[in-house]
Amino acid sequence: VISGAKNAAVAILPATLLIDGVCTIENVPNISDIKISCEILKKLGAKITWQDEHTITIDTTNITTTKAPLDLTSKFRASYYIIGAMLSRKGEVEVGMPGGCKLGARPIDQHIKGFEALGANVTIEHGAVLVEAESLKAANIFFDVVSVGATINVMIAATMAEGTTVLENVAKEPHVVDVANFLNSMGADIKGAGTDVIRIKGVNELVGCNYSVIPDQIEAGTFMIAAAATKGDVTITNIIPKHLESISAKLIEMGAIVKEGDDSVRVTVDNELRGVNVKTAPYPGFPTDVQQPMSVLLSITKGRSLVTESIWENRHKHTDELKKMGAMIKVEGRTAIIDGVEKLEGAKVIATDLRAGAAMVIAGLIANGETEIVDIEHIDRGYPHIEEKFRSLGADIRRVVR
Ligand code: EPU
Repeated sequence: VISGAKNAAVAILPATLLIDGVCTIENVPNISDIKISCEILKKLGAKITWQDEHTITIDTTNITTTKAPLDLTSKFRASYYIIGAMLSRKGEVEVGMPGGCKLGARPIDQHIKGFEALGANVTIEHGAVLVEAESLKAANIFFDVVSVGATINVMIAATMAEGTTVLENVAKEPHVVDVANFLNSMGADIKGAGTDVIRIKGVNELVGCNYSVIPDQIEAGTFMIAAAATKGDVTITNIIPKHLESISAKLIEMGAIVKEGDDSVRVTVDNELRGVNVKTAPYPGFPTDVQQPMSVLLSITKGRSLVTESIWENRHKHTDELKKMGAMIKVEGRTAIIDGVEKLEGAKVIATDLRAGAAMVIAGLIANGETEIVDIEHIDRGYPHIEEKFRSLGADIRRVVR
């Protein structure tokens, strides 16, 4: 059963800062990035109540400071959404320079371009980002690169700006649409999310609402790939099959059987899979966030596969770990050239980042013997109860507390 989408939830939680009131968010994934997000909201004065493991009530009536703690905000990427929300609500905000997985340069120039176009002043000093504005006014903004973060952040900031903001060359990921739906549930007037152009008509006020986060496309994709890699028979539920089309298509091209239900997908394998080429791209292309798990599957698939990472400059670090397990991979620039081997061998490997960690779990499941993965705190940032979910499918996997 797939959990709520991390990359939607990490934007929706900070977006509750837009209002002076109460929101209840359901289907929140139980991951460490959400816990950090809640800690930051609390430090700003929000009251957080967990109704159950997946439901949070956030009361943002008494926001007491516009300075988010630098140590917490610089720990993870999505802290940049505090900027859009607090700028709109309070006209000023200070956060630590956003951190996150080390995937190469992760600039925030497109966020800044958007905030400045809305009338804000942005200063970066001593590892902190300071953004302030007397008032926000609508603007036409054409993003230079397709950015999930900048699209969502500027959309959040523009919800109450005077006039109609038009964002062009925007990201179309399911989580962008989900955040727009959440903002509209609070009374925003946003049209076009999921297309290249988003129009945001500024409203005077937003109000609290109840909202349920969409299922996690990336967690679902990871389990689909794990099913194919282990030649299993896995039905993945609580998903939106449309969001998984590029992954389903690639698995079918390899020879796997993928059967879609209304809110589920079943992956089985009844013959030998073929190597394929994969190139990551913004939605609806093949998601960068399942590229690393996919390269594990390709490492045991007959023939040569080329995996080209076009979003991040450094997202092949996991291939060094896979090579410790016997994979034959050569990285040239942004492309990994993978020659499928019969079997991987268990080894001690490192979860170099979040999705690399999930990739190592799949590698461990298909390898001969035992695999030990260290630095698993990366995995806990994005996969709720990963070992329990795999154990329920028959995997021999356990968390070793040291
Ligand atoms: N970029 C810029 N300037 C900007 C923003 C982005 O040049 O101001 C570039 C980036 O360097 C990158 C490309 O644009 O080359 C796309 O970056 P994007 O802004 O879309 O990425 P992000 O918002 O920082 C989110 C996810 C990532 C996911 C990417 C792409 C969150 C918190 N993170 O990052 O998720 O890989 O979109 O889909 O939503 C993950 O979950 O493992 C993860 C890394």
